[in-house]
Amino acid sequence: MSIGDSKAIVSNQQGINENLDAIVNKHFNSEFKKPISIHTQQAFDQVDALVKNFAGAIILDSCCGVGQSTRIIAKQNPDALVIGVDKSDNRLSRNVEQQLQVDNYHLVRADLNDFYRLVVAAKWPVDKHFILYPNPWPKSKHVKRRWHGSAVFPYIIQVGKTIELRSNWCLYLQEFQAALAIANIDSKLTEIVSAQPLTPFEAKYQASGQQCWALTARIKS
Ligand SMILES: C[S@@+](CC[C@H](N)C(=O)[O-])C[C@H]1O[C@@H](n2cnc3c(N)ncnc32)[C@H](O)[C@@H]1O
Repeated sequence: MSIGDSKAIVSNQQGINENLDAIVNKHFNSEFKKPISIHTQQAFDQVDALVKNFAGAIILDSCCGVGQSTRIIAKQNPDALVIGVDKSDNRLSRNVEQQLQVDNYHLVRADLNDFYRLVVAAKWPVDKHFILYPNPWPKSKHVKRRWHGSAVFPYIIQVGKTIELRSNWCLYLQEFQAALAIANIDSKLTEIVSAQPLTPFEAKYQASGQQCWALTARIKS
């Protein structure tokens, strides 16, 4: 897809998924037993050593794609260590023009369904957690593939003092907001009004005139 021809999300779902409450409550009330993959355990162990030896704030950039947001956030937070995680080796290893001159970041290839559980078990002191433009999975039957419908959601909300999600599909964020409310977490949904896109997907959506949205919440004090 070239910049500027991105199509708006089309879904057979008009409002919040009718099964959302049941799905989220089930995940809060049952153990997530799927074993951690060897690959993600190894990737986590490497970055865990960096985190343990770092005295400043940790910022997690989940679903970081090519890592552009990871670098921008690192530039904006020079005293923090920013960890970008994505499962796609292809995206992570793409040569992104590097004009920012930053080195306080680290990119990791891992499956977040496993990685989040390891972050929680290791009690990483994550300050801010970003999930920018997660795959929307717009078909109603795929609600469990969205992060708030996944079995790892109860762990996601234990990561970071604050969380920020962005999407061009407002309903995704409204659903995440509803899932947060089940855990008694208040959040704020706003339109993004910014000239400088934080990620390549944000740039595409802006270039094709689509509105993008941000959901922010304070999870821990
Ligand atoms: C729509 S792209 C957005 C990438 C980037 N944040 C951006 O805005 O340009 C979604 C990203 O989520 C990643 N992703 C999806 N599921 C994942 C998982 N289980 N673990 C890690 N990354 C995942 C994909 O590989 C993809 O790079």
